[in-house]
This record gives sequence, structure tokens and C-alpha cells, in this order.
Amino acid sequence: MNNDEVSILLAAAAHAPSMHNTQPWRFEVHGPVVDVLLDEERTLPVEDPAGRAARIAIGAAAFNVRVAAAMLGHESRLVAIPDPARPEVAARLFLADRKVPVPELGKLYGEMTARHTYRGPLLDHPIPPRVCDQLDDAARTEGARLHWLDQPAKETLNKLLTQTDAADLTDEDRLHERLHWIGGDRSGDGVQESALGPVPVRRAMVRDLSVGFDSTHRSQAVYETHPVIAVLSTIAEDESGWVEAGAALQRVLLVATSYDLTASFLNQVLERLAPRSQVRELIGDRSWPQMVIRIGYPAQPAGHTSRMDWRDSFDQWF
Ligand SMILES: Cc1cc2nc3c(=O)[nH]c(=O)nc-3n(C[C@H](O)[C@H](O)[C@H](O)COP(=O)(O)O)c2cc1C
Repeated sequence: MNNDEVSILLAAAAHAPSMHNTQPWRFEVHGPVVDVLLDEERTLPVEDPAGRAARIAIGAAAFNVRVAAAMLGHESRLVAIPDPARPEVAARLFLADRKVPVPELGKLYGEMTARHTYRGPLLDHPIPPRVCDQLDDAARTEGARLHWLDQPAKETLNKLLTQTDAADLTDEDRLHERLHWIGGDRSGDGVQESALGPVPVRRAMVRDLSVGFDSTHRSQAVYETHPVIAVLSTIAEDESGWVEAGAALQRVLLVATSYDLTASFLNQVLERLAPRSQVRELIGDRSWPQMVIRIGYPAQPAGHTSRMDWRDSFDQWF
């Protein structure tokens, strides 16, 4: 791979979502192989002690590399935790030249910069069933599943969200960790206040990442009462399963973006053992919930997070 190709692949990776926009990845390029390493300095020891969310982010970043590689005409294959001798390598991508036309993956390239987490109110438009089918296919192609919650399941989820948000309000360690990454004016990493979305006038099914902070100066909005919610799950509940969940998440999000859909996440219920096992019961097939996705058409414009320069995450070229 030449310099230009490496810059295209790694700039694409940097657009991936990550919990609190920590960007917990580093990259090494070994000829046609791209390694994605877990950056221990960018993890969340309190809210993500097992590194599950960090590996989901790495899977999403690795998927973006595959999309950019496809756009450049390369076939690629993702292997999660490929090297027992180097446990810090969380994902490895093998690239090869293609001899056939650009694959389906390459057409998602343009969606990578258009995708952003959207925490504002959603329009009351239903998502056409054929689009939901496309999102199901996207998850399934990467070995995951989407579970669309019906109204009773959403009511149960809402109770879990209320309990978890209340617990977060009084958890000093979590509050401290979130203060490090969330709110205020920031660039490069973290979630600045303008990307948090408005404060809901009445309780809504949207996560306010700044719960427990002073929000008196933020704008307010009325939110939809019945958002569409899907839970992304995997059979595997280990480090490789989490990377695969991240690849599936990113494929779902990029396909969603291509239909003008936006998403935000209600993952506070997955950050604690008890509510996570209740969400697991809710989806009912013994798979492991990895992301709770609120999805729909945005009702207003929203601020976006920024990224570090990809060169700051690039370790070596061998
Ligand atoms: C594993 C994971 C968990 C996340 N959890 C939440 C969440 O619970 N609530 C939320 O609003 N955003 C959540 N996010 C979204 C991130 O905050 C977002 O990806 C990051 O700030 C970068 O912004 P962007 O997605 O707009 O590029 C999560 C993202 C990942 C990958």
C-alpha cells in the first residue's frame, strides 16, 4: 500500500463512532495488513471496565477501513483478536487486490462522513419495512442480529432507563469520568455540549450524556413519544464478539445513513450487569445485547463531534 492509500484508510477509520468519542484505537500497517490496537490510554475504566465498548468502537473503525479499501478496489477480511502473542491487537485486516468490480461495501464510502450520532427529537415518520429489512441484512452480514422492540418491550426498557439514569446521578466515579469527556467546548475528542442535543421538556427515550451536570443554559425540545428502538446483539460475548458487534453496528449505521436515518444510543442500560441481563431477557433469544439503538428521521439540525488527526493514532509502518 502506498502513502495515499494508507491516509485514505486511516482517515476513514477515524470517522467511526466510539463511546464518549474516546477513539480508543491505534493503527499499524504491515504491508497489506492493517492492525487495529486497543489504546489503553483512551479507555473508560469506570463505565467500560471490560473494554466492551472500546472493542465495539474498534470493530466500527475496522469496518470503515474495509469500506475505504473496497472503494480503492481492495478485497478485505477482518479477523478479531488475531494474535495471542500481542493481545493489544484487537482486530487485523487483510487487504488484497480485486479482480472483479467494486463490491457492495465501497458504495457505503460516502456515508461515513455523513453519519453522526443524533440526539435531538425524531420526526413521527414510520421507517418503511423494506428499509428495516436492509438494516436486518446489514447486521446479519456481520454475524449480529437486530431486535426491533414492540411497545411493551419499550415500556420495560423505559423503566430500566429511568432507574439507570437515577443511579448515574449519584455515582460520583461515573460522573467524574463523564466530566472528563463530555460537555463544554472541546475539539479533537470527547462530546462537546453542542453535540449533546436539547434537554427534553418531558422525560424521553434519549440519553442525556450530561446527566448530573448543570444543564440550565441548554436549549429544550419536545421529543417524540414512541421512538423506534432496535437492540443489536451477538451470540458471542467475548473480545472477538465485541469487535464483530462493532463491525455490524457500523454497517447498520452506514446503511441507515444512506436512507437519511439517524441514530443515537441508550447504552446506559448495558453498562451495568443487572439492567443488561434484563435487556437480554427482553430480546429473548439468549444472544447478548451490545447496542440499544434509537433510530429515525431527524427533526432538527445538530452539532457534530470532531476527531483527532488520524496521524496521531498511527504508530508504525512496517
Ligand atoms: C459502544 C458505544 C456506546 C455508545 N453509547 C452511547 C450512549 O449510550 N448514548 C449516546 O448518546 N451515544 C453513545 N455512543 C455514541 C458516541 O457518543 C459517539 O459515537 C461519539 O460521540 C462520536 O460521535 P459521532 O457518532 O457523532 O461521530 C456510543 C458509541 C459507541 C461506539
